[in-house]
Amino acid sequence: MSEATDLVIFGGTGDLALRKLLPALYRAFVEKNLADNTRIFPSCRSEKQLNDYMATCEGALKKHLNEGEYSEENWASFRQLINPTLLDISDANSGWSDLRNTLSDAQRIFYMAIAPAFFAKCCEQLSHHEIINENSRVVLEKPIGYDRDSAEKINSQVANYFEESQVFRIDHYLGKETVQNLMVLRFSNLLFENMWDRKSIDHIQISISETVGLEGRAGFYDDAGALRDMVQNHLLQLLCLVAMEPPNELGSQSIRTEKVKVLKALQKIDKDNVREHTIRGQYVTGESQQQLVPGYLEELGKAESFCETFVAIRTFVDNWRWSGVPFYLRTGKRLKQRSAEIVVQFKPVSHPIYKNQSSLVEPNKLTIKLQPDEKIQLELASKQLGQTETKLQPAVLDLNLTQDCENFYSDAYKRLLLDVIANDASLFIHRDEIDNAWAWIDPIIQGWAETDYQPELYRSGSWGPHTADQLLQKDGRHWHNPSQGDVND
Ligand code: BG6
Repeated sequence: MSEATDLVIFGGTGDLALRKLLPALYRAFVEKNLADNTRIFPSCRSEKQLNDYMATCEGALKKHLNEGEYSEENWASFRQLINPTLLDISDANSGWSDLRNTLSDAQRIFYMAIAPAFFAKCCEQLSHHEIINENSRVVLEKPIGYDRDSAEKINSQVANYFEESQVFRIDHYLGKETVQNLMVLRFSNLLFENMWDRKSIDHIQISISETVGLEGRAGFYDDAGALRDMVQNHLLQLLCLVAMEPPNELGSQSIRTEKVKVLKALQKIDKDNVREHTIRGQYVTGESQQQLVPGYLEELGKAESFCETFVAIRTFVDNWRWSGVPFYLRTGKRLKQRSAEIVVQFKPVSHPIYKNQSSLVEPNKLTIKLQPDEKIQLELASKQLGQTETKLQPAVLDLNLTQDCENFYSDAYKRLLLDVIANDASLFIHRDEIDNAWAWIDPIIQGWAETDYQPELYRSGSWGPHTADQLLQKDGRHWHNPSQGDVND
């Protein structure tokens, strides 16, 4: 059970608060992981929002919780924690003093579920009205910056009011159960550690594919694109967890130190090699989930845009462990299936004694599935039963992480919110990680601009542009797309 907490959600009526944060808090409450003396203060900008808030919140829970999760009884108890608060971030005379007088001496958490342009203003108001105490933390949502300079500016502004140890930068991918399981798999099983390097691993693929399009975020997305929206944060974080050295303990500082080393070791991609190492794509109309969907430009309502909705990257981690092992990253919207997977492709055995059979089984492959299912699968070669002559066949060790967990709803935001409340920063992003991630991303974006590298069009419902396949084919490899059986969107 968590300790007494006052949690202020700036942007209390926004999409993030209603779609993710309140359902996560409700789940934590129902699972009895949230102390009864937790109080939630979602900010509302108008009297109307304030008066309607309980109904809005109830509607959001009914809409966004899974079937069977919502109950009138639980809502009646959970709603007691919610204290909607009238507050306009840009107005120093709105409810700040009331907020200060309402907060108790419990620990204080300020969740910035607002655009980053308002982070500094909000921190300034909190400070000006003396609402920040030594037992306060601030949670920052992505995107943190648009490039290295703007990220640095945001981080410096926030640092004027909060120590780094009080700043919790969220990447919700780190809250996913299988992502944490990846660390357990790597660092609690001797089996893999001895093989986790260039001697045994041929290459690694990290793919996040989405079937959705813009989802009403056209303004933000058209400026950002897939590289900033997904690669700078989620994909690089996954890459770090796969590639990093074992931390000497589980503390946030040790983990962050190892992740930063990986980011620093990423091979530079800039104007000289950007066309060789990256593919940009943009979706056009096509059939997605058995429905005809509009193309990106139609969704955007513009005649022209050079924003990428798909990106594939071939990169290397230039250090002792990974030298020469390609890491292929891929993400896109309106792709064939919703899926997030890490595939570790091992090398073939050094001296095959089952002659003429190499075409029947591929070398070992470890797949860590983050969504839609949470699974870890290991592909092995085995003998076909009952044959006098030994014949090989592929077999899969299949670890389904959720099948025995009735009534447990794996929810990244729930996990991360509980970690903030517990003051555990190990699954949060340090300022140095943001800085180093942008330091790798910026030259790619500049390279695209300097070489006038336009996105290639791909059909909605496909696996992206053909050139993304060629990126691997020229290395004699192919993408491991999730099998049809895994569809569950
Ligand atoms: C967000 C991106 O960070 O992650 C979105 O801004 C994307 O564009 C989302 O859709 C994907 O998250 P998930 O958990 O649904 O894979």
